[in-house]
Amino acid sequence: MKSVASAPAKIILFGEHFVVHGTKAILAAIDKRVTVTSSFTENKTIKINSQLGTLEVPMSSSHEEVKSELRPFVYLANKMINSHQDVNGLEITVNSDIPIGVGLGSSSACCVAATASISGLFNELSRKEIINLSIEAEKTIFPDTSGADCTVCTYGGKIVYPSIEKIGNTFDLNLLIANSMIPHSTKSSVEKVNKFKENDEERFSQLCELENGLIDEVIYAIKANDVPTGFENTDRSLHNRLQEEEKDGREHFLGKKMSENQKYLEEIQVSNDTLRDMISSLSEISLGSKITGAGDGGCIIALIKDENMDKVPELLGKGKECFSVKIDTKGVVWETEK
Ligand code: PMV
Repeated sequence: MKSVASAPAKIILFGEHFVVHGTKAILAAIDKRVTVTSSFTENKTIKINSQLGTLEVPMSSSHEEVKSELRPFVYLANKMINSHQDVNGLEITVNSDIPIGVGLGSSSACCVAATASISGLFNELSRKEIINLSIEAEKTIFPDTSGADCTVCTYGGKIVYPSIEKIGNTFDLNLLIANSMIPHSTKSSVEKVNKFKENDEERFSQLCELENGLIDEVIYAIKANDVPTGFENTDRSLHNRLQEEEKDGREHFLGKKMSENQKYLEEIQVSNDTLRDMISSLSEISLGSKITGAGDGGCIIALIKDENMDKVPELLGKGKECFSVKIDTKGVVWETEK
């Protein structure tokens, strides 16, 4: 019996770091995925095959003994095997097209896909149960996680966190991701922000308020501009033109808000010269841009009109990677083959 699950990568459109301290965030799942395949073996081991290497530990091992990024898999395997005494071994294989350690939620997507895949061998879980268990698994490597990443990887689409409200599903954004190729550690960036907060509680709480206000404006704008119902049956060309105008106006507004959000991220010191250079090199063609994820390296996102996309590689210069993304609407998907 084989259980296969896949989950999407994510970007944070607004609210990274502040979300760890209780503000809202807006996230989107994107069209890059990790696939996890699980099957029973007779080897009395938990074996994990992934791009990070292969790990094989006795069934009795605790995840705490595993000193690697593969710890969440051992945690999940133990958790599910423990309630089923008849299991003699488990093999988990991870295949991913999500770049690792650059703010696109690779580890959360792995935790979500692994939870769905392993549980598929036993009792299928609901999406809510998948979120809870995958967040527990992620906490074995990053105890301070806000849980936002696992949530969007599970549900797909664009969501507001923590309310898990899906927004703006009637339109797509021309989003570009540019990778600085500098790996980052989410844990150390989050610790740095904790220090900023300790040193200046008052300013940090002002920034949290500003971030929340900005996100409320964005949610309002996205909802207000969703296609009004009833239009579909009237004049189609007028409807299409209005939609185009709305998309244009909405993109300019969202771009402006992204750049405003970037100022807050600069202030809490999770940016660096490379990221600032990338943002300014795109400024002539982007409607707005910002870090996505923990910062200190990793990726930026930018809103770029279709007609300007081909100018991006030259503007960014050598040594960077860039690609445009589509929003994933499926979230985690899974199937079991007998
Ligand atoms: O860089 P990533 O993909 O690990 O995203 C981190 C996002 C933070 O807000 C900094 C942390 C969190 O758990 O929300």
